[in-house]
Amino acid sequence: MAEKMSEKTYPETMKAVFLEKPGGKLFVKEVSTPVPGPGEVLVKMSAAPVNPSDLARMRKAEDAAAFIPGIEGSGAVVAAGKGLLPRLWLGKRVACSSEYTYSGTWAEYMVTKAGKCFPIGSKVDDEQGAMSLVNPLTAIGFFEIARDERHKAIINNAAASALGRMVELLGKKHNIPVINIVRKDEQVRMLKSSGSEHVLNSSAPDFIDNLARLSNELNATLLFDSTCGPPLGKMIGALPSGSSVVIYGNLSGEDNIMINPRSLIDNDIKIYGFFLGARSKKNGMLKNILNMREVSRLMSSDMKIKIQGRFPLEKAQVAVDTYLSDMSSGKVLLVPMV
Ligand SMILES: NC(=O)c1ccc[n+]([C@@H]2O[C@H](COP(=O)([O-])OP(=O)(O)OC[C@H]3O[C@@H](n4cnc5c(N)ncnc54)[C@H](OP(=O)(O)O)[C@@H]3O)[C@@H](O)[C@H]2O)c1
Repeated sequence: MAEKMSEKTYPETMKAVFLEKPGGKLFVKEVSTPVPGPGEVLVKMSAAPVNPSDLARMRKAEDAAAFIPGIEGSGAVVAAGKGLLPRLWLGKRVACSSEYTYSGTWAEYMVTKAGKCFPIGSKVDDEQGAMSLVNPLTAIGFFEIARDERHKAIINNAAASALGRMVELLGKKHNIPVINIVRKDEQVRMLKSSGSEHVLNSSAPDFIDNLARLSNELNATLLFDSTCGPPLGKMIGALPSGSSVVIYGNLSGEDNIMINPRSLIDNDIKIYGFFLGARSKKNGMLKNILNMREVSRLMSSDMKIKIQGRFPLEKAQVAVDTYLSDMSSGKVLLVPMV
């Protein structure tokens, strides 16, 4: 039985976003507000971003009738199930991520595990707080990898993204040069005007030559790739010997890419995947709390994520379309109570 802050702190029913079918259009439906069980909390959502991982999940959602999208967001804990942590979070403003496919952040309320909620610092607003889990923790993870594997400089692809901007910021803080790869001239200009020193355009004819020159010059032996497009094989061939390649996204949507096995063997290249969920599980609660403190500190100072639009739940489809039409212009937020 949920421990409510007081009676009637939340309504019996709520609005939530659903999919017509896997990969289909989004619409809003009135459903019963979920009740938190042991170890769970009910969050009254304030804001939730549209992230590439949300789109990937929506494409493969099998049980569309019971699926509410939205992996991360922010809100206030209005009810708590049994347990110390749920009670501790009751009444707190939190950043939260979804635990269950049937209760996502694109809704007025979400039930999730208390362990997937982290209090938001007073200097971080609900909108920035809504984006404080997925990308900031990934950026922190990247620099932990760079430190553990002793890389002197790193390379990041799709670098005009929100995550790309964080990687650049953390690179400056850690004194680790970042080679930013983008795919349009306007993105090169945007990054350079915001202070990035090393920016390469993957659409330019001399891209691979420039990558080979710059990565060897800076000894950039760690490539983070979220694109996984056809040029990846050639990019790998351009890296300094002994490099690591970390695949963390599949923005190109390609199922298979060609990599010359000799370029891996001759140059002693390692390739592996990065998934924040698995890393957070391995990290454990204490390390996750410490990393969240770091995120809170960064977001209270210079880590600010650009927002291009805010939409009510009823306009979820417009929100996704707006985001897809220009992903580098900033995040799109779903704001249930506007
Ligand atoms: N593995 C993990 O645990 C993890 C965690 C966090 C984030 N990620 C991944 O990190 C990436 C960035 O996320 P984000 O939220 O920061 O993104 P975002 O701010 O929403 O921006 C997406 C970026 O990707 C670019 N892009 C889209 N399709 C592309 C393609 N086919 N080739 C090259 N660039 C492309 C966009 O450029 P245009 O404007 O030119 O389209 C835009 O700059 C995503 O792939 C996401 O899934 C992974």
